[in-house]
Amino acid sequence: MSLHTGGYVFRIVLILLVSIGQIICQEFNSSFTPDHIHYLQLETKNQFLHAWNSYKDYGFPADEVRPITCEPYGPDYKNIDDTVRNDALGNVSSTLLDNIDSLVIFELWDDLEFMLDYLNSNRDIFNQDTIVQVFELSIRSLGGLLSAHLLLTDVTNKQRIPEKYLRLKKISDNYDGFLLDLAYDLGLRIIPAYKTSSRIPVPRINLAKGVLNVPAYLQRDACTSGAATPVLELTLLSRLTGDPQFEHLSQMTFWKLWASKSKLNLLPMTIDPIDNQWKDAISGIGASIDSFYEYAAKAAIVFNDKYMWSVFKTSYKALLAHSVQGGAPNDGSMIFSNIGIHDGIIVSDWIDSLGAFWSGLQVLTGQLSDAIKTHVVYLKLWDYYESIPERWVFAHFNNRVKGSNKLKNSIALEWYPLRPEFIESTYYLYRATRDPMYLQIGERILNLFKNKFKRKCGFSGIQDIRNGQIQNRMETFVMGETLKYLYLLFDVNDEIFLHDDYLMGSKNWIFSTEAHPLWFNKKMQAKTSTNYTDQDNQDTVKLNKKLYSPVLSLIHSYDSRRENLFQAEDRVYYRNITLPPVNRYSLPSDTLYKKDPLVDRFDTCELNPLTIKPTAFLQSGYYEWNRLFMADHTFGGTLIRPPYLSQSQLDNTYIELTRTFFDKFTMFTGKNERGLYLQSPRISTTEKYELFMGDIKEINEVEITQLYFKHNHNVSSTPVLEGDFWIPEIRALKVLIEKLVANRVDSNDRVITHKYIESVRVDDYNEEGVCSPDNQQYQQYQNQKPIGHTGRDIDIVLRVLKVNGIDIPPGAIIWTLPFIPHAPEPGKESLISIASDNRVILQGNVIENVMVWGGSA
Ligand SMILES: *[C@@H]1O[C@H](CO)[C@@H](O)[C@H](O)[C@H]1NC(C)=O
Ligand SMILES: *[C@@H]1O[C@H](CO)[C@@H](O)[C@H](O)[C@H]1NC(C)=O
Ligand SMILES: *[C@@H]1O[C@H](CO)[C@@H](O)[C@H](O)[C@H]1NC(C)=O
Ligand SMILES: *[C@@H]1O[C@H](CO)[C@@H](O)[C@H](O)[C@H]1NC(C)=O
Repeated sequence: MSLHTGGYVFRIVLILLVSIGQIICQEFNSSFTPDHIHYLQLETKNQFLHAWNSYKDYGFPADEVRPITCEPYGPDYKNIDDTVRNDALGNVSSTLLDNIDSLVIFELWDDLEFMLDYLNSNRDIFNQDTIVQVFELSIRSLGGLLSAHLLLTDVTNKQRIPEKYLRLKKISDNYDGFLLDLAYDLGLRIIPAYKTSSRIPVPRINLAKGVLNVPAYLQRDACTSGAATPVLELTLLSRLTGDPQFEHLSQMTFWKLWASKSKLNLLPMTIDPIDNQWKDAISGIGASIDSFYEYAAKAAIVFNDKYMWSVFKTSYKALLAHSVQGGAPNDGSMIFSNIGIHDGIIVSDWIDSLGAFWSGLQVLTGQLSDAIKTHVVYLKLWDYYESIPERWVFAHFNNRVKGSNKLKNSIALEWYPLRPEFIESTYYLYRATRDPMYLQIGERILNLFKNKFKRKCGFSGIQDIRNGQIQNRMETFVMGETLKYLYLLFDVNDEIFLHDDYLMGSKNWIFSTEAHPLWFNKKMQAKTSTNYTDQDNQDTVKLNKKLYSPVLSLIHSYDSRRENLFQAEDRVYYRNITLPPVNRYSLPSDTLYKKDPLVDRFDTCELNPLTIKPTAFLQSGYYEWNRLFMADHTFGGTLIRPPYLSQSQLDNTYIELTRTFFDKFTMFTGKNERGLYLQSPRISTTEKYELFMGDIKEINEVEITQLYFKHNHNVSSTPVLEGDFWIPEIRALKVLIEKLVANRVDSNDRVITHKYIESVRVDDYNEEGVCSPDNQQYQQYQNQKPIGHTGRDIDIVLRVLKVNGIDIPPGAIIWTLPFIPHAPEPGKESLISIASDNRVILQGNVIENVMVWGGSA
């Protein structure tokens, strides 16, 4: 069969795929016995070998191999404007440089030795007259070289080496450090990009001829992740070589970017390094800014840098407050969308494929339940599209799309180049939870690799998800990340050295954004830079990170006594509080202390292995989390299965409903007090809306803390329960409100009854409005109160679900200080006032979980 014309190839492949699609489901096993998992791991290695051997035989020493046509692939020298192609390809054997560490992980010792010899005798490999992107070369090639250098110098230098790594030890013993020389050479070619007057790097360089040989129009727009991310690789390069310029210049950029964040602590995505100007006012977590957060967290880990850690925490807090959409505490999913940096208002109705990395980072930084909720959205994308569209529309702002346009409109960018981010996050989630659900996801994707993405010379992604058209390209990250993470996912018994405590346990290593293991310790610090001196380096930047980095205020350090008091109160969330006399305006500091709820988030471990029931054989903990299918409802309007994919069989669509998996892991689950674990909650039918109070720009000045008892407290002396919130001032608040109306299902899966509403409401504010504390201004207000406002719907009670991105769990009360009721316009309801039972009233409706502290009792 001749495979030369693109269209012809495409049609043949499509026909094959349709028939293969039927077979896929029969291959599922989902038993996850040790044998089965070993089989999956071996099969993953076989896929890697297929890709690697194809590259070796048909691509090497070019950057890539083309999977359909088996040709080498590199930069387009004729068209330097094809930056999509040229940015990551520099005729530098990119696939090899991105995969030296993969050869170690997949234990391909002969190839490792061969390739090291090749690189050793091609020291001039970076002397290429091509224009590449600083970011891409930093994460793929520089990161790959540094990782390989660490693996060859700091893994087998132990007393007892497992037998299967004796070969690696031998290779390591013969290794003279030349990869660091190559890394240094590349570093020197990259670093001039940073020597701009703005201290923001230009995005591209010509590897052989330097920055000045790049046309100005290719240097205008740098993205935040592109400018900030190389800080990890470049700092490591400085530490290992002793030449400080890489660290100084890249850190300077990082901190300069951070210093220019908005008042909401959000960074835009595009900057012009020549004009020294931001080019947009949009933030988010996906393309163009993703690895900024990732490297704040990972640089904090590798270099033990508390300032970097504070950047991550501050950013995460800001994203929770502004970027999360929907996300009531009991929602089954979470979307971090793009937002304006000055007002936090949503600006796009899509999320991108790169954003799938976020849940992995959430796991790494301890945000496990957020991670599960973020990940589930991408799981549904795999269910429906067998891939992840580069941009997928999660909600139609304008909801009039119908019929066949639905598919088209649900996909804003239609390709999937076998990106790794979802597998990466699945790997992190499996390591954290050991839930077979994540192995199940891995098995499905492995099957798609074997049956759908496989080509004669590797694997190719999808060019157009809407019709199944494929690409003749295999990016370096397919092996370097996607297959690597899949292989590591199946390493459940820690047989790969990266998971081996003896070899790696003390190293505090991370995966770079390109899945290269990186770490650093003081012993590696170069004593001098005699072997690495740069004649051109005149840079003497001094950096004071303190100036750039206000550390999050820590109100109280972590307290291990914390218990979850809310589970016991399952049935009724409303608390019938009888207020004892309390000292108005101030908290009893001898009894209570305050704690920042976000500090708690980062300091407590969400994992509790003891919650897995010992009686349930291999029960999936994931399935205990019974909101797995809520996302199908939430996004039902824009999850559209393309017609060329099978439509009918559950086995062929839902990964989490594959028959064998479902039968093995969910049929025998037990009950809890509310029914079967598997029982989905009802979809909430209450209305929810967001309310801005005050100037959102002051959001970081607002105190939101949680209240806890000191030891030996006298509980009955205060109406507070542990975990209640303290928000003394009502200003700069973004509040998610649920409107409780009789006969609706609330966000906690409960039907609201008239009786319940009556029990929350007290009578005195129905007609008289505000009950006044003994305060002159209140009295004045009472006197001026408009008359004749009747006809209020007394069957409504409000509930606050979230304040500034912080979940208010069921049962918790928000306490606030007495305030002057917002003066109503004549004839209108006052916006906000106080009832006789101290609950706060919003536009005539009582809020069940906001109370004024120390009002009249
Ligand atoms: C690409 O690199 C190889 C060495 O790896 C070199 O021989 C070849 O000339 C380069 N191609 C171009 C067009 O510069
Ligand atoms: C520096 O170079 C010298 C001579 O090439 C070599 O003997 C020495 O080991 C090198 N030092 C380091 C730290 O690489
Ligand atoms: C606890 O406080 C209540 C109310 O203030 C008081 O009546 C009671 O005696 C106190 N108990 C103790 C042990 O101090
Ligand atoms: C609230 O407490 C009061 C006094 O203890 C009681 O009379 C009333 O029935 C309670 N209300 C509810 C809804 O439990």
